[in-house]
Amino acid sequence: MTAPGPGPVLVMGAGSVGCYIGGRLQAAGAEVRYVGRARVLDGLRAQGLVLTDLAGGRVELPASNLKLLDAPAPPAALVLLCVKSGATGAAARELASVLPAGTPVLSLQNGVDNAAVAAAQAPALRCLPGMVPYNIAELGPGRFHRGTGGRLAAQDDPLLRPWLPLFEAAGLPLALHADLRPVQWGKLVINLNNPVNALSGLPLREQLLDRDCRLVWAALQREALAVLDAAGIVPAQVLSLPPRRLPGLLRLPNWAFRRLAARMLRIDPRARSSMADDLALGRPTEIDALSGAVVRLAREHGRAAPLNERLMALLSVPRPVPIGGRALRRALGV
Ligand SMILES: NC(=O)c1ccc[n+]([C@@H]2O[C@H](COP(=O)([O-])OP(=O)(O)OC[C@H]3O[C@@H](n4cnc5c(N)ncnc54)[C@H](OP(=O)(O)O)[C@@H]3O)[C@@H](O)[C@H]2O)c1
Repeated sequence: MTAPGPGPVLVMGAGSVGCYIGGRLQAAGAEVRYVGRARVLDGLRAQGLVLTDLAGGRVELPASNLKLLDAPAPPAALVLLCVKSGATGAAARELASVLPAGTPVLSLQNGVDNAAVAAAQAPALRCLPGMVPYNIAELGPGRFHRGTGGRLAAQDDPLLRPWLPLFEAAGLPLALHADLRPVQWGKLVINLNNPVNALSGLPLREQLLDRDCRLVWAALQREALAVLDAAGIVPAQVLSLPPRRLPGLLRLPNWAFRRLAARMLRIDPRARSSMADDLALGRPTEIDALSGAVVRLAREHGRAAPLNERLMALLSVPRPVPIGGRALRRALGV
């Protein structure tokens, strides 16, 4: 036990992000309870929780040490909201029905609107936006792997400050920002590859080595960056490259991309975006939280974002068939 934190942590949505971050906090001494679905909880009951990372780190929590719930319940000094964007409203309503007013709820979700969606459904709770920069994959029941690096970020709030030593002790330092929106948009611009990856049907690394796919991603980014310009939002740097230089890197021929993007290509060869898993399992995707946010921001500023709009249409059909990079370029007119 190193830094138990100011009180019990409740993970709302025990999946890749919730189990990884909750598990690391528990390993650092926090009392953590995991609210999730039978599919994940049964795996945790059978196998315990094993967390690994790119640097060879490994944390093991035996099943007997895991507190698993099928619905939220007090006590919770901090909630980590880790459901997919489409489930935010319902999860927030469940939290609001059982937790005392003022409980901090930190959204560790992608997109830029989840904390506001949660706040609208749970106005008495203190819903705060956060950002997870790394990829976390479910390798099997109770097995979660962090495949990339980076630093957690959240909106600065007095309710979060007492938790910083715990996150630090867990090896997940949390940076607090006076305004998280530029950080969220910086991540969203990168996440525009998720739909490209999901539609391609390829593992991430293979997809990144397909220049046609990269040209599509670059075009989606350029469109989003132009919308952000119009909105006066300067996206923060989340990867090792400033957001505005990323499209140029992606457009390079393969030989140069392999050389200059070596770090980006350091990914487990089996890794896929979680949107690819959503498509494979017939689950709703987060396309509305990503491309949808670009389209909405464009409209707010009297503009259009036709590429992101067309991408949403491609993903709006149930179980879309895989579209290779070249066909995707044709479909989007890139
Ligand atoms: N995985 C990553 O690498 C990564 C990285 C950064 C950010 N993110 C973001 O983090 C968020 C979570 O992603 P994830 O990959 O961790 O998703 P995930 O693995 O699907 O985990 C979410 C889990 O929460 C469950 N859930 C949904 N509503 C619930 C409720 N009301 N009560 C209890 N459990 C509920 C889901 O079950 P159902 O499937 O039944 O809904 C699912 O098992 C997303 O916004 C994602 O974009 C993910």
